Amino acid sequence: MKLLEGKTALITGASKGIGRTIAEKFAEQGANVAFTYLSSVEKGQALEKELQAYGTTVKGYRSDASKFEEAEKLVNEIVSEFGTLDIVVNNAGITKDGLLLRMTEEQWDDVLEVNLKSVFNVTKAASKIMMKNRKGAFINMSSVVGVQGNAGQANYAASKAGIIGFSKSVAKELGSRNIRTNVIAPGFIRTEMTDVLDPKVVEGWEKDIPLKRAGETEDVANACLFLASDLASYINGQVLSVCGGML
Ligand SMILES: NC(=O)c1ccc[n+]([C@@H]2O[C@H](COP(=O)([O-])OP(=O)(O)OC[C@H]3O[C@@H](n4cnc5c(N)ncnc54)[C@H](OP(=O)(O)O)[C@@H]3O)[C@@H](O)[C@H]2O)c1
Repeated sequence: MKLLEGKTALITGASKGIGRTIAEKFAEQGANVAFTYLSSVEKGQALEKELQAYGTTVKGYRSDASKFEEAEKLVNEIVSEFGTLDIVVNNAGITKDGLLLRMTEEQWDDVLEVNLKSVFNVTKAASKIMMKNRKGAFINMSSVVGVQGNAGQANYAASKAGIIGFSKSVAKELGSRNIRTNVIAPGFIRTEMTDVLDPKVVEGWEKDIPLKRAGETEDVANACLFLASDLASYINGQVLSVCGGML
């Protein structure tokens, strides 16, 4: 039995990295998959083709999760094309790093809008259909940085800590409607986002991680699959770290 048979999922930011692997895993596990991308149009279109091999309904949408109206339009389109929406993974995210004294207002605003406001936008739009259905699951992608902070990432850490506070509140508001809201806090995962880091910094981190390795996108996707599935039916308002023991 596939874990997500008959369910419809939306994954934001799935053109690459963690989101892409989640989309693949969900389709493999029987879900109908709607996903978004923004600048990586070719990668988004290629993923849509790839996912068709799993035999469920799949569609990629070019949609900016940080824009309230776009998120609302996206959810309405998904509901009219797929018929419903059961699972949302708020995964879209960016970094614009810099030490506080050098950080510009634009760096702050961009990161907060893409990483945190997007979660509000998509969750608000999707919660309406889930409330009607009296079931649903949100999985919001935070980071260990949102829990412990990181020099040079005050904007990113604030956005990821904000996701935790937001999710815990929404879990309390929507729990009575059988809608679960949980958070994943990945540690250091190999993707294009972390490819830009100085190899020396990466080496230092790997030494400090009790499992002595960076995480793979599949490590996060497996946790996400669990939280999205009925195996996690009594888990709500929690933060699951996927960090090899880093936190
Ligand atoms: N990698 C790590 O070590 C790590 C650790 C902790 C947390 N995380 C979090 O995990 C999530 C995925 O990270 P990743 O490493 O997979 O990053 P990534 O490889 O850079 O992928 C980011 C994804 O987000 C999409 N995206 C960016 N802005 C968007 C917007 N405004 N609207 C819709 N989609 C947008 C990108 O789409 P386009 O390319 O099409 O624009 C891309 O598909 C992020 O929230 C990140 O903060 C990552």
